[in-house]
Amino acid sequence: MARLAGRKILITGGASGIGRATASLFQHEGAAVAVLDRGAGDWQGTFVPVDVADPASVQQAVRAAESALGGLDGVVNAAGIFSAAGLADTTAELFSRTLAVNLMGTFLVIQAAAPILLASGSAATIVNIGSGVGITPTGPGSTAYVASKGGVIAMTKALAMELAPSVRVNVVCPGAVDTPMTQSFLRDASGSVDPTIANRYALRRAAAPEELAAAILFLTSAESSFVTGIALPVDGGRTFH
Ligand SMILES: NC(=O)c1ccc[n+]([C@@H]2O[C@H](COP(=O)([O-])OP(=O)(O)OC[C@H]3O[C@@H](n4cnc5c(N)ncnc54)[C@H](O)[C@@H]3O)[C@@H](O)[C@H]2O)c1
Repeated sequence: MARLAGRKILITGGASGIGRATASLFQHEGAAVAVLDRGAGDWQGTFVPVDVADPASVQQAVRAAESALGGLDGVVNAAGIFSAAGLADTTAELFSRTLAVNLMGTFLVIQAAAPILLASGSAATIVNIGSGVGITPTGPGSTAYVASKGGVIAMTKALAMELAPSVRVNVVCPGAVDTPMTQSFLRDASGSVDPTIANRYALRRAAAPEELAAAILFLTSAESSFVTGIALPVDGGRTFH
């Protein structure tokens, strides 16, 4: 039995990386999926262009997704940008852009989708993508990104209270995942995961995007029907020790 049969789900950032793997898995599990992203990438299914940091664009895109899918009872917020800069190099513009996409973008999509999810009549779900660094930073040098992800984790808990009991809201907190976002620093010259990164993880490696998609599937499916407001680390054991 498909685990998302009959579900209608929009996935921001679904054209690449974790969002892309989630879109494929959700479709395989029987969901109707709309990908919302800046471009479609190689996604062949329903696609709606969006800038999640732009309130008008988000309103329009969520309505378009609802109409393309014939309803909406699930949201995955996987759109995001990474920013690495020490305190002195973090300009107001960089800080503001990082927060605008990662934190406000997640907020805007939920705000636009919430009335539809609340009226959907089925057990609706929202899964946000935070980061392990929003729980415990890996080191100095990405204050704006860490702040944005800490915000996503706190906001998830606030919204889990506000949207209960109709809508469950959870956040997945990945460790290093092998996606275009980490392409420039994850691997060393030999093509292996940089040992200084791998050694932060009890499992001594980075994740494949499909390993995150599996956790997002759990939190979207009825298998997690009594789970809301949690921040689930999927981080190879980095944040527990
Ligand atoms: N890759 C990792 O190691 C890692 C670790 C922890 C958390 N995360 C988080 O997981 C999420 C997915 O990251 P990923 O690794 O798949 O990255 P990715 O770069 O492969 O995908 C991110 C997607 O978000 C889209 N996007 C960015 N800005 C957007 C905007 N303003 N409007 C609409 N779409 C926008 C991009 O076009 C892209 O398709 C992000 O929130 C990221 O912060 C990733």
